[in-house]
Amino acid sequence: MMVDLKSQYEEIKPEIDAAIREVIDSTAFINGPAVNKFQQNLETYLGVKHVIPCANGTDALQVSMMALGLKPGDEVITTSFTFIATAEVIALLGLTPVLVDIEPNTFNIDPQAIERAITPKTKAIVPVHLFGQSADMEAIIKIAEKYNLHVIEDNCQAIGADYIFTDGTKKKTGTISIVGCTSFFPSKNLGCYGDGGAVFTNDDALATKLRQIVNHGMTVRYYHDMIGVNSRLDSIQAAVLDIKLKRLDEYAQKRNQAAAYYDKAFENEPHLKTPVRFNKSTHVFHQYTLVTNGIDRNKLQEFLTSKGVPAMIYYPVPLHLQKAYLDPRYKEGDFPVTEMLCKTVISLPMHTELDEEQLNYITSSVLEFFKQ
Ligand SMILES: Cc1ncc(COP(=O)(O)O)c(C=O)c1O
Repeated sequence: MMVDLKSQYEEIKPEIDAAIREVIDSTAFINGPAVNKFQQNLETYLGVKHVIPCANGTDALQVSMMALGLKPGDEVITTSFTFIATAEVIALLGLTPVLVDIEPNTFNIDPQAIERAITPKTKAIVPVHLFGQSADMEAIIKIAEKYNLHVIEDNCQAIGADYIFTDGTKKKTGTISIVGCTSFFPSKNLGCYGDGGAVFTNDDALATKLRQIVNHGMTVRYYHDMIGVNSRLDSIQAAVLDIKLKRLDEYAQKRNQAAAYYDKAFENEPHLKTPVRFNKSTHVFHQYTLVTNGIDRNKLQEFLTSKGVPAMIYYPVPLHLQKAYLDPRYKEGDFPVTEMLCKTVISLPMHTELDEEQLNYITSSVLEFFKQ
């Protein structure tokens, strides 16, 4: 399995079952005490002043852009190598997504490409901390300050990772800029048993606005001060998340152990490049993604499937070549790094329950492909 949620659940079953039962007994299904408790515990864990829970990561991005007052026609710069949700909300709000290329080693947005894409209409930058490690936040914030832009961190894949500043201080990803977003989709590093998400900020006024927006723009019940949405975290999901939050660092450690096993197994295989660790971030390995060379990546995926090893392609098509996002501003060849990676990456199973036997089978199967 790419992600083994069943075995993980078995490990924590008594605690989870009791917590879900408690919510059902209380019937406080929406915005109950479980949501408040999880919110506070996550604030403490992240070292951030405000966590605003919402319904999913896509909404987290959307409400952040609404709360920052972005208006139709404003340009928002983001990466061409990400999950579609990042650009989707920009387009849905009538903003203009401006895509830029990534750095080949980290797969994260290239700060120099950001600066080249800035125009008088640019209002925000959305870096994505892809696959579990931080984008180059110091460089991005420097550009944002120079041009007076908002930075919205898409932290859906990197919750728990630390960004390490040049002076050695650390901050959790998602809490470095004015606002950060995360997803609690089941397969995420901190995943619930349905959909969930949250926004993080240290700005009191923005937090107040975000809390209103996620609840129909309401401060006092049935008095609506702004246009909002219905985007809340269910109490049952919050209860599950609170239990898993206590184990988040341990889970990251297990993911790192699996990654180290993969690294070692593939170190002498010339057709594979193992993930490069960015020296300004810890890695929480949402995905373990190899870059292949000199082989047909799809053949490797087929071979692994035939051996019962699931392997996924994140992502096969860059945003600028997605049918829904085709735009005369972009054509094939515009983002060479992204396009090259879309053709050559492959992600191996990565979760908290990988044992040595499974890791051995997966790595042997990968290496067998090259011996054929
Ligand atoms: C980078 C990125 N952004 C946004 C999202 C959207 O999160 P959700 O599925 O909770 O809406 C995801 C995950 O699905 C993601 O990986």
